[in-house]
Amino acid sequence: MELHLRDLMTPDPLTVAPTDTLATAAEAMRRRDVSSAVVLRDGAVVGILTERDLTRAAAAGAPAATTLVARWMTADPVTLPPNSEITTALERMLERNVRHLPVCAAGSLVGTVSLRQLVRAASLRRVDPWAPGTAKGLENVTVAETRISHIDATGGRLIYAGHDAVRLARERSFEDVWHLLLTGELPPDDGFARRVAALRGVPLDAAALRVLAGADGGMMSKLESALAATGAAWALTPWYEREVSEVEEEALRLAAVVPSLVAALWRLGRGLEPVAPDPSLGHAANYLWMLHGRRPTAAQVMAAERYLVLTAEHGMNASTFTARVIASTGADAAAALVGAAGALSGPLHGGAPSLVLDMLDEIATIERAGAWIARAIADGRRIMGFGHRVYRTEDPRAACLRATAEEIDAPRAGLARAVEREALAQLRAAKPDRVLATNVEFWSAVALEGAGIPRELFTPTFAVARTVGWTAHLLEQVRDNRLIRPAASYVGPSPA
Ligand SMILES: CC(C)(COP(=O)(O)OP(=O)(O)OC[C@H]1O[C@@H](n2cnc3c(N)ncnc32)[C@H](O)[C@@H]1OP(=O)(O)O)[C@@H](O)C(=O)NCCC(=O)NCCS
Repeated sequence: MELHLRDLMTPDPLTVAPTDTLATAAEAMRRRDVSSAVVLRDGAVVGILTERDLTRAAAAGAPAATTLVARWMTADPVTLPPNSEITTALERMLERNVRHLPVCAAGSLVGTVSLRQLVRAASLRRVDPWAPGTAKGLENVTVAETRISHIDATGGRLIYAGHDAVRLARERSFEDVWHLLLTGELPPDDGFARRVAALRGVPLDAAALRVLAGADGGMMSKLESALAATGAAWALTPWYEREVSEVEEEALRLAAVVPSLVAALWRLGRGLEPVAPDPSLGHAANYLWMLHGRRPTAAQVMAAERYLVLTAEHGMNASTFTARVIASTGADAAAALVGAAGALSGPLHGGAPSLVLDMLDEIATIERAGAWIARAIADGRRIMGFGHRVYRTEDPRAACLRATAEEIDAPRAGLARAVEREALAQLRAAKPDRVLATNVEFWSAVALEGAGIPRELFTPTFAVARTVGWTAHLLEQVRDNRLIRPAASYVGPSPA
């Protein structure tokens, strides 16, 4: 709700004639206790006389008793109608360097407003009255400078610290990319991977894990609780005014145990004992090992590893922003990850891939794909796994995971291909002015299923990957911190 001049103008303003003397006008202003008078000739506004004009006239030695208002008034002042917004009035007054503005309706004077009145009203509504309107959802608002990743929305590329993420997914291990995101450099050898492998032990005792795993909630709320419990178990303290190297170590240890927590919670929840990490395995392979207690196939490891690399980082998404906000307060590293995991648990962020499988279940056969998509579009439903807030091309991660799903001969790759073909063609016909291409969620679902990861673990697996991005951002924030504290636009009532 915008305020208008009619809401704060002073009605019935003082008026004088251009033929009045300055003394007469000054006396009238003093009696009414106002700092300006509107100058009217035959009912029309021809000028405005302010205290500033009187001071200038006195300083110039003009005799008040004989000098006419017309000589010192500001002629043809800016006038605005009562339905003008206060920001418009502020802009006009600043442009013309005036402090008083007559408000006119249908050519007649109905009030005045002063700059002071406007600024007071504006400051109750906005921190900066000339700032652009509220950025709902912070869309297109830049909140940080980062060296960690860049989304090339029109070129359809995702860059991790100067490297193409798809190329990294094809050529590098998850640990190499982890090192890259944390330090800006690919590691020279496997030293970092070995260090991480030694940090994977489950940080909570069996009794605590059992309590969490036995709770009725979903896997993400169990993971959030386990991360908070890990922070408590390790007695993590706010990073503020501690050595950055200590926070780096804590962030690394936390990220290293996320797959162990997910696997242990999931297994315990199903009445199975947790499987101890195997330091001889890479991060992706070890995750699959801890989930199932059997050696994954090379194809499963490849699919899981590519997925983890491609989803490790993605700019200032909601969970990453959450991690940075919490880190910016000086809070401990676990707090930032708990918050980030909470943000990821929302269906608008991390919750979509299992919905893709639900859709594939419903479609069931290639022959049914066309009719199913047509019905969904006709009913105004969204096809899961298509469209993106940022990319204006195909999501490059989707293309890589499509190829991966096909390379490993994922169980539903053929069906998914047919559904994708139908969806793209029909969405193009239904929304010709939108780019509705395949997004990462569509092929993630198929690739994760091919890697042997159960559906209820899709979002926790996303967290396994994204923890690396969260911790990279947390450390970037810590190294150059400023408390993140945006403003809000007050739209409630003003005090009487
Ligand atoms: C990802 C998503 C939220 C991006 O949304 P967005 O860029 O803000 O797009 P909008 O919500 O502004 O939608 C723009 C138009 O395209 C349509 N549209 C967007 N995605 C669509 C989809 N997957 N299926 C059908 N129509 C879709 C919308 O209905 C809207 O049409 P309208 O202008 O006629 O109302 C959206 O594409 C979506 O809901 N996709 C399906 C869910 C999904 O895959 N999520 C995972 C995201 S990684």
